[in-house]
Amino acid sequence: MTLGQRFARLVTTAVVRRPRLWRLFRAPLRGQFERLAPYWDERHGPNHLASYEAALGRIAPPPRRALDLGTGTGDGAVALARRFSDAEVVGLDLAEAMVNEARRKLPRELGGRVTFVRGDAASLPFPDASFDLVAHANAIPFFDELVRVLRPSGWVVFAFSRGAATPIYVPLERLRAELERRGFDGFEEIAAGTGNALLARMR
Ligand SMILES: C[S@@+](CC[C@H](N)C(=O)[O-])C[C@H]1O[C@@H](n2cnc3c(N)ncnc32)[C@H](O)[C@@H]1O
Repeated sequence: MTLGQRFARLVTTAVVRRPRLWRLFRAPLRGQFERLAPYWDERHGPNHLASYEAALGRIAPPPRRALDLGTGTGDGAVALARRFSDAEVVGLDLAEAMVNEARRKLPRELGGRVTFVRGDAASLPFPDASFDLVAHANAIPFFDELVRVLRPSGWVVFAFSRGAATPIYVPLERLRAELERRGFDGFEEIAAGTGNALLARMR
């Protein structure tokens, strides 16, 4: 792993253990992703969302509103919109350059249903219970916030493109433990391509 990737892993591990540490890491991590935005799509292969897509394929009935947290250049949000053809989709990212790139790349035919917002997953600019699905691809989880914006019986997805070798990675058993104590069940662990994913549903 590069130094930047090691830093991203360190932040992920620290914030999952102690969410309050995020305020120390927020600015440097944001700076790192602002700089990476122009090259982000060159850094991964065409199937980097294989496990994310596989998890989406198990969700029924389809969500009406879906959120992709840490959307980067927006590929996860586009995958949501293509999979759930009636859903309204929001992609949110901390880095403005990532959001700008996501908006630039958005296929015209999805423009009416997909929006991109700059924001922090630790403090989301959405009302309580406003999404049926909150999805993450290679993104740091902020459990209390995602639970707040999820509707009862809503779904959550965490996907990692290279499994445990992904820089931003949380072991699936750790994710599961955090979700179980917040009232989730229906856990499914999914392997696809080089990645893995966890799917769960709020009771
Ligand atoms: C590893 S990239 C993944 C991007 C995209 N989901 C993908 O898989 O290609 C992580 C993204 O999360 C964003 N990010 C990091 N912390 C965040 C936070 N607290 N809130 C929102 N986005 C965040 C970064 O700016 C970056 O774009």
